[in-house]
Amino acid sequence: MQTSFNTVGVVGTGAMGRGIAQIAAQAGCDVLLFDTQAEAVARAQQDLGAQWERLREKGRMDDEAVAQCKSRLKLAATLEALAGCDLVVEAIVERLDVKQELFAKLEGIVSPEAVLASNTSSLSITAIGAALKQPQRLAGFHFFNPVPLMKVVEVIAGLRTDPAVCERLARLAREMGHTPVQAQDTPGFIVNHAGRAYGTEALRIVSEGVTDFATVDRILRDQVGFKLGPFELLDLTALDVSHPVMESVYRQYYDEPRYRPSVITAQRLAGRMLGRKTGEGFYRYEDGKAQVPP
Ligand code: NAI
Repeated sequence: MQTSFNTVGVVGTGAMGRGIAQIAAQAGCDVLLFDTQAEAVARAQQDLGAQWERLREKGRMDDEAVAQCKSRLKLAATLEALAGCDLVVEAIVERLDVKQELFAKLEGIVSPEAVLASNTSSLSITAIGAALKQPQRLAGFHFFNPVPLMKVVEVIAGLRTDPAVCERLARLAREMGHTPVQAQDTPGFIVNHAGRAYGTEALRIVSEGVTDFATVDRILRDQVGFKLGPFELLDLTALDVSHPVMESVYRQYYDEPRYRPSVITAQRLAGRMLGRKTGEGFYRYEDGKAQVPP
């Protein structure tokens, strides 16, 4: 299968990097995984293998497709091992300085024609690109969690991004079975801008004592029709990811009060009650099942 990119490097193999790697391999790309935590890369490979086995059991993939996906997935021990990639997608920690440093390093490793993409939830692509000699090759490529199921991907041009780079990424998104949507380089883009209303307002309802978080979730999920309540969503995303996104959007809009992050999430972040990934967030998780703490 011919795809818009042959070899996709994925830097950061947490929840998002893993999902992006999965759909890239399924689309027919070779995929190289890199993370500063060696065990995160090994875990990602193991989880992806298990994920493909489950798809085989469900009859959604045949033996050959599973074998091909597994063979397309390679582990990179160093960032330099990504030299041959024609696309590198970053899904690391949501910090401008760390992302800038990574892309500046990558620019010295990959070929001048390679495309660089950030899965940032909220940071400015123009600002990330300020660290690059060739900012025209950087774009936002923003997937949602869980990547294989959430079919939309925002493609974001910074002020210096070459439109051809966005067109190529949009083509890849379609080859992955996703729906690309072009978004302007603004804080939170489309979904995380709209999402502020869902998350921060729900946190206000709880902090004002209107009702408890589980009731908010139950009503918005079962009666209003959202797939997940706002607190279930915070637990899925994890507070070490979503609280910095809230802070980032708030700061970028010059402390606009309607985006102000909540002390509720700040406190839980400080207490490492991050959500599903730590087994305890707003809910407690046993065998993957959410329970309301007493
Ligand atoms: P995560 O915490 O699950 O994974 C991040 C991974 O990046 C970790 O394995 C960590 O070791 C690695 N890492 C950190 N700094 C690194 C560096 N300098 N070089 C290489 N690897 C590094 O985070 P998650 O949830 O996958 O999020 C990653 C990015 O995706 C963030 O920018 C986040 O805002 C964005 N995002 C997250 C979504 C979510 O629902 N979790 C949804 C959409 C975007």
